[in-house]
Amino acid sequence: MLSASLSIDPSFTVAPVSRRTFGTFVEHMGRCVYTGIYEPGHPTADEDGFRKDVLELTRELGVSLVRYPGGNFVSGYRWEDGVGPQADRPRRLELAWHSIETNQFGLDEFIRWCAKAGVEPMMAINLGTRGVQEALDLQEYANHPGGTALSDLRAEHGTASPYGIKLWCLGNELDGPWQIGHKTATEYGRIAAETARAMRMVEPDLELVACGSSGSGMKTFGTWEREVLQECYELVDHISCHAYYGDDDNDPASFLASAVDMDRFIDAVVASADHVGAELKSDRRIDISFDEWNVWYKDRSRLTDGPADAWEVAPRRIEDEYNLTDAVVVGNLLISLLRHSDRVAVACLAQLANVIAPIMTEPDGPAWRQPTFHPFAITSRLAAGQVLRVETSSPTVPTEKFGDVPAVDAVATYDEGKLAVFLVNRSLDTPITVTVDLGRAGVTSVREALTMADDDRLAVNSAAQPDRVVPQANDTVKLEDGQLTVTLPAVSWTALSLSAD
Ligand code: AHR
Repeated sequence: MLSASLSIDPSFTVAPVSRRTFGTFVEHMGRCVYTGIYEPGHPTADEDGFRKDVLELTRELGVSLVRYPGGNFVSGYRWEDGVGPQADRPRRLELAWHSIETNQFGLDEFIRWCAKAGVEPMMAINLGTRGVQEALDLQEYANHPGGTALSDLRAEHGTASPYGIKLWCLGNELDGPWQIGHKTATEYGRIAAETARAMRMVEPDLELVACGSSGSGMKTFGTWEREVLQECYELVDHISCHAYYGDDDNDPASFLASAVDMDRFIDAVVASADHVGAELKSDRRIDISFDEWNVWYKDRSRLTDGPADAWEVAPRRIEDEYNLTDAVVVGNLLISLLRHSDRVAVACLAQLANVIAPIMTEPDGPAWRQPTFHPFAITSRLAAGQVLRVETSSPTVPTEKFGDVPAVDAVATYDEGKLAVFLVNRSLDTPITVTVDLGRAGVTSVREALTMADDDRLAVNSAAQPDRVVPQANDTVKLEDGQLTVTLPAVSWTALSLSAD
């Protein structure tokens, strides 16, 4: 048994917890929309065709915001196909994921679904095949109160009051050669600037996200951020980060240390953005919208069988089945996002249902929680108040990709006498006893101590065994005289909730 120690003090604050850290993503891809969140005729479907079992799980997941409608999908999307009477909506070839888009679900349904799920909408616009005018049209349809062609059309379609969408993504991953309408950084920076300028003529206080790199492994990473922001720095609020982690090389030690990469990625993008701000002598600060992050490695196929594959409606695409190790990594990535709350303003777990998702469904059948559901739901429920900087002293584990990394990683939040601590043990084989010096936190009781661990680190949940991998009470926890001890099993994620009473 190894030991580690943490020191926590409520005055070591990083930033307030942003509820927008707990966003997710709904893309018209595979079965995320169709037979995921939307399935008229399903035994639980409501009057809008929304699956109530999925709505309930979305609320339980503690989602604050949902990005929509893509993803690569958005770069070929015509938003007007998805509004108005459903019988009149066109079926289209969907090129990004090689399928048929029926447009039975669109903006109006999405906004209604968000209201029912209690989440904020985050809307992406197509800057792949389209441009400034179509963005303005969508904005007028969605946000203008009335008395113009498109705002009146929204009313005709059943919603008189504007949707009031605040947060907009200016395109998606346009640095990627796979993206429809792929651009150079300067080409993209120009169209992002012109779109932002025009949208702000209508609503000056929108929050706009420029596309950063689609991953830190891109050849243009760094240069892309700099050149894009040189064009649009004064017109946008956030730059996006996307990252997917996986154990592609059968190297679980490196995979378990994925949050080290996320930490470095965030620091690098912050540095690039601040560099441009300094060059421009600007008072403006650009924050990060980490609007796609997750574990994704089991099914990386983009087009399954390629062009010869049939054009199908809602085919199964990248339905990764997650295991306990994946859940520990997801919990650790959330630790990294929270730790950077001073610069990460928005984060979206990609995606919500079926497509690399915490919620799985079967058409006409049940919905269940993947193991990754739990660390997200528990962190969203417990993180509150201020994020605290945690000083950690931990044994290290060797990794191929990152060298020696601390086995224990942690973050804490503090809210009026309530302390939440989130921890992982990234060792593949050794439990670690952690001593936490709670300093001036003044907490005296443990309300909850939940751990995700398993004798089989590859254990999964399924429709037949939906609760094979779930959090368990950790009964090793002890709190005495401001010192807490807890044992973290090998490959585990833990949440502690402590209070002053
Ligand atoms: O989330 C799946 C895909 O990953 C998105 O469509 C794209 O933006 C990213 O490459």
